[in-house]
Amino acid sequence: LAPVDLQSRLKELTTLTDRALDELLPPAETGPGRLSEAMRYSVFAGGKRLRPALVLLWTELAGAPIQAGLPAACAVELVHTYSLIHDDLPAMDNDDFRRGVPTSHKKFGEAMAILAGDALLTLAFEVLVRDGLRNSCGARLVEELALASGARGMVAGQVADIDGEKQPPQRNLVEFIHRHKTAALIAGSCRMGVISAKAGSRVLDMASDYGTKLGVLFQMTDDLLDQVGTAEELGKTPGKDAEQGKQTWPAVVGLDKTREEARTLADETQNILADVAGEPARLLRDLAAFVLTREK
Ligand code: IPE
Ligand code: IPE
Ligand code: MG
Ligand code: MG
Ligand code: MG
Repeated sequence: LAPVDLQSRLKELTTLTDRALDELLPPAETGPGRLSEAMRYSVFAGGKRLRPALVLLWTELAGAPIQAGLPAACAVELVHTYSLIHDDLPAMDNDDFRRGVPTSHKKFGEAMAILAGDALLTLAFEVLVRDGLRNSCGARLVEELALASGARGMVAGQVADIDGEKQPPQRNLVEFIHRHKTAALIAGSCRMGVISAKAGSRVLDMASDYGTKLGVLFQMTDDLLDQVGTAEELGKTPGKDAEQGKQTWPAVVGLDKTREEARTLADETQNILADVAGEPARLLRDLAAFVLTREK
């Protein structure tokens, strides 16, 4: 478990994010068909809200009030949720459970799941642009999210992940996959917090380094949990990676070595903020330790 004050802070940030997301999403009964119901179903199924928390903590660390980071926090969670819906599709990982409930395509059918994902992705950019009309950093946030989630970021990683199913486990390939499919959006979340605060390049570089390391660490523990976690804790079906021949860290170096390398990476992640004073930096260091030991 996370230290008590990190836990309660994460809870506060989740409440703030969820309230803002609720205002942004179309009411459930809005048509056509079950589109808004499907969008809300996946967003509010109960994710950990790690990425919005990173946006908001980095906004604070960079010296702005938390409110300044809220549009970016919502935008990254919308993109993340779309990526999960599409990741679970039969043509991708073919999963039946996500966030403790049946996957979008199981509940609404494949066509609606694809379209709900499309609509969440598009809404993310609408949110940033609308905020940008009031706020000079909007265009930079749009660029950042596009880079993190597109063909040079998350989508590149997803392509390598799917293609990698046909290849023997290779360390350099796993590193590429983790950096792109997961760390790109996590680093992008940290960077978008800093950009929302209009802070300079020194803090932005720190956010990139911290986010990239934390993102790879996060996917290493995701790979570990797929092998050792329970369906109840994870809210998704474990054991799928081995079954599908995925390129994972344990597939390349084994469970023990993965744990050892994850510990080293958690230390390195914390060290990036070793000399930064204040509560946000302390919470971000604690968060790295939490990601290392997480059980869901
Ligand atoms: C799952 O992300 C997909 C990965 C990139 C590993 P999370 O574990 O953050 O999923 P939620 O948001 O808590 O459901
Ligand atoms: C997903 O990686 C990364 C995304 C971009 C969604 P996984 O396929 O390992 O994520 P889970 O285990 O299904 O959550
Ligand atoms: Mg996948
Ligand atoms: Mg998957
Ligand atoms: Mg996984």
